[in-house]
Amino acid sequence: HPTLSVSRAALLPPPGGPGDPAGQELPVESRPFASYGSALHIALPQAPRAGQLLTLLIDYEAGEGPGVCWLSPEQTAGKQKPYMYTQGQAVLNRSFFPCFDTPSVKFTYSATVKVPEGFTAVMSATSWEKQKDNTFVFKMSQPIPSYLIALVVGDIVSADVGPRSRVWAEPCLIEAAKKEYDGVIEEFLVVGEKLFGPYVWGRYDILFMPPSFPFGGMENPCLTFVTPCLLAGDRSLVDVIIHEISHSWFGNLVTNATWGEFWLNEGFTMYAQRRISTEVYGLPYTCLEAATGRALLRQHMDATGEDHPLNKLRVVIEPGFCLFLGVNPDDTYNETPYEKGYCFVSYLAHLVGNQSKFDAFLQAYVNRFKFQSITADDTLRFFLEYFPELKEKGVDSIPGFEFDRWLNTPGWPPYLPDLSPGQQLMRPADELAELWAADGLNMEAIEAVDITGWRTYQLVYFLDQVLQKSPLPEGNVKRLSKMYPKISKAQNAELRLRWCQIILKNNLEAEYSKVKDFLHSQGKQKYTLPLYRAMWGGSEATRALAMETFSATAPQLHVNVQNYVKKILGLAGAE
Ligand code: BES
Ligand code: ZN
Repeated sequence: HPTLSVSRAALLPPPGGPGDPAGQELPVESRPFASYGSALHIALPQAPRAGQLLTLLIDYEAGEGPGVCWLSPEQTAGKQKPYMYTQGQAVLNRSFFPCFDTPSVKFTYSATVKVPEGFTAVMSATSWEKQKDNTFVFKMSQPIPSYLIALVVGDIVSADVGPRSRVWAEPCLIEAAKKEYDGVIEEFLVVGEKLFGPYVWGRYDILFMPPSFPFGGMENPCLTFVTPCLLAGDRSLVDVIIHEISHSWFGNLVTNATWGEFWLNEGFTMYAQRRISTEVYGLPYTCLEAATGRALLRQHMDATGEDHPLNKLRVVIEPGFCLFLGVNPDDTYNETPYEKGYCFVSYLAHLVGNQSKFDAFLQAYVNRFKFQSITADDTLRFFLEYFPELKEKGVDSIPGFEFDRWLNTPGWPPYLPDLSPGQQLMRPADELAELWAADGLNMEAIEAVDITGWRTYQLVYFLDQVLQKSPLPEGNVKRLSKMYPKISKAQNAELRLRWCQIILKNNLEAEYSKVKDFLHSQGKQKYTLPLYRAMWGGSEATRALAMETFSATAPQLHVNVQNYVKKILGLAGAE
């Protein structure tokens, strides 16, 4: 069942030329392509010449589709008005508008959006203008790939937070949104420009999405979309914003040509994020954050098996000879492109051996490939050309660290960057986790540790250690919960996720309702799936909890997230 229906296609006459301005109607046909889309075939009256410019007019209607999400008032924060948003990455925008839905093709766009009275439209565009009759006109004047086109229509308002930045949110959230990021965004942009070159996109605005938004953040150009979970009240989750800002150079300017090399977007972005974070917050804090990233990679590889074919940086994506074989690019979203990709970029920096030289390389790389889509081969060839002495030394084929191995062999990264500058923040957390994992609790030693001044990421790191050691001896988690309401009653989503994981791994039945509450409160994929996996892998009681929670929350989840949960719960029937 198509989620996009094309009703008519016409070839328009050349601008200013003769011919019917309504165009010449052309036969259209939809042909099978893959489980995640079909091919639109339009028959031209004659074969075009190479380089000939053709203007096609396509009438179509977008309905229920994975790319376009229609929310009822109950699914918004304000609960008064409906809301619609689009999420293009990776291959969902084909259900929003007909396009060459591949990151290897870039184009500019413009759009005229008419909305009902009382609604505002925003897009990932360079400029916008409100005209009469609730009509908004947008123009993106830089070439971008299809997945970066994004639209929101809802009851949203904005507030300035910097010279080129404002936040957008539903009216009931706007004050919290402004407070969270007032005066902090510009510094990240300035540091990014210093490191990676000019910020070419004009504005950098942030839109706080409804709670069911499936990602932490989405780097739509000029207008990043983020989960409302970032409204922690203390800026503690700002690393997501720094990450999305980093995509302004890595991903949005220099783009992976295929989704099989998604790590080119995310691995370089993780590296850039941590460079900016190091400049702004220092090395110890950044290493602490990177250590929590490494823990996620460990968990992911433990769960999938190191040798899983998706645990390579270069993934094979083919629509498949048979319609339903092959890998859907949207199914390759996991920690490997992020954290193993980060390790590979860190390894390249390690080969160079000098941070400012490597920073200069990154800037030259962006400048060389800006507005293009490239492959890892392009990146690595440029690296070796930029550092001829490394090429001479044959650094691409050092046994065990071959570039080819990095790209094509699944498994744990052969090189890990040194995170020991974070030890001063991690050690107290490691030691405290050790104490809580002991058989007879040494309460004196535990009480001597004061966690009230700990940063959120120190607590996150502590909880990851506790989780790793779980199940703890009987009764320990219950005491831990009593001892640290700051953790067990936390509102911060990163803490809630870990606390819920600990509850489940330790069968702390008294707190199961916290898992349910958390899953009712938001629908981020990276929070939702690990909890359902843990519930399904647990007891009779946690399985029942999973079923009950899913049947209550399913309609609120993004359809992709819904389908992944169904798979975990064995509910994936014939779709
Ligand atoms: N571009 C991604 C989100 C994405 C990936 C959407 C794949 C669709 C398919 C975004 O930049 C991202 O990585 N977000 C992370 C933030 C984190 C790594 C700081 C997220 O959502 O968790
Ligand atoms: Zn990203």
